[in-house]
Amino acid sequence: MVETKYETVLVGNENGLTTITFNRPEKRNAMSPQLHRDMYALLSELRYDKDTRVIVITGAGESFCAGQDLKQYFLEMDSQPERVRDEVRTLSRYWRNEIIRTMPQPVIGKINGWCFGGAFTIVTACDIAIAAEDAVFGLSEVNFGNFPGGEVTTVLTEQLQPKHALFYALTGNTFNAKEAERIGLITKAVPRADLDKETMAIAKNLLGKDPVAVKAVKEAWYYTFYSNPDVAYEISGLVSQRVNARGRPGIQQFKDKQYRPGLGAYKWEKK
Ligand code: ACO
Repeated sequence: MVETKYETVLVGNENGLTTITFNRPEKRNAMSPQLHRDMYALLSELRYDKDTRVIVITGAGESFCAGQDLKQYFLEMDSQPERVRDEVRTLSRYWRNEIIRTMPQPVIGKINGWCFGGAFTIVTACDIAIAAEDAVFGLSEVNFGNFPGGEVTTVLTEQLQPKHALFYALTGNTFNAKEAERIGLITKAVPRADLDKETMAIAKNLLGKDPVAVKAVKEAWYYTFYSNPDVAYEISGLVSQRVNARGRPGIQQFKDKQYRPGLGAYKWEKK
């Protein structure tokens, strides 16, 4: 279990489920340079944590994340030396883009409230995103004379249809979780009263699965998403070789009539 204390995030673990809570509610959990440093360090630690088999990311208070900290990440950073600006930008990009998707554990975003600008990249980075129906989403950059830059544009082009992405990037209009679900930004919108219960049900499902298989699902999916079909096919073959090098215990159990694969997970051994 992770022992390190972080300034801007809370970390809890129960029975294999690690919950990360952005903890700057007084700033609506905006991403400060310190939050980027904390998330980078924390995820790097959790990757190797044997007690972490599923991760949930959420926000303290009424906000999931109000995007980049407009003062600390933009205004104050402008006067910092280039070395510091580069370090913070790299960490900021890295944990939301490369690290989450390459974590061996599945990551669930639990969107409990406000979700603006750069926070979209947290949502899209998570493998599964579940939101309270009244959570509010917005690409507000255009509202303050800017545009969804860098990795935000990338997630818009990669994950949303042009007519959805451009509409919200141009207008800066807010939208609710039902609309986020319709346009494919999140997995599912649920009544606020059910958010914890529904998130826990998904987490429990994943905790019951063989972690080797779960990691392989992520690898095959993301490599395929980001590669050309030939490379993707080769990588999928390599992942498959690694998964099957330990035999085929799930199929063996099916053969022995111990369970029905269509209806749930086989009994895997915790290593
Ligand atoms: N950056 C820095 N501080 C922020 C941010 C932010 N993104 N969002 C909120 N805060 C701070 C406010 O400055 C305020 O701090 P203060 O009490 O020290 O003055 C505190 O959080 C509360 O903010 P309010 O606006 O009073 O909270 P309210 O609940 O009324 O509104 C809302 C919440 C809608 C999220 C509003 O704060 C807002 O519009 N924030 C900016 C959201 C945004 O545009 N994000 C995109 C950033 S750009 C990017 O990510 C690439």
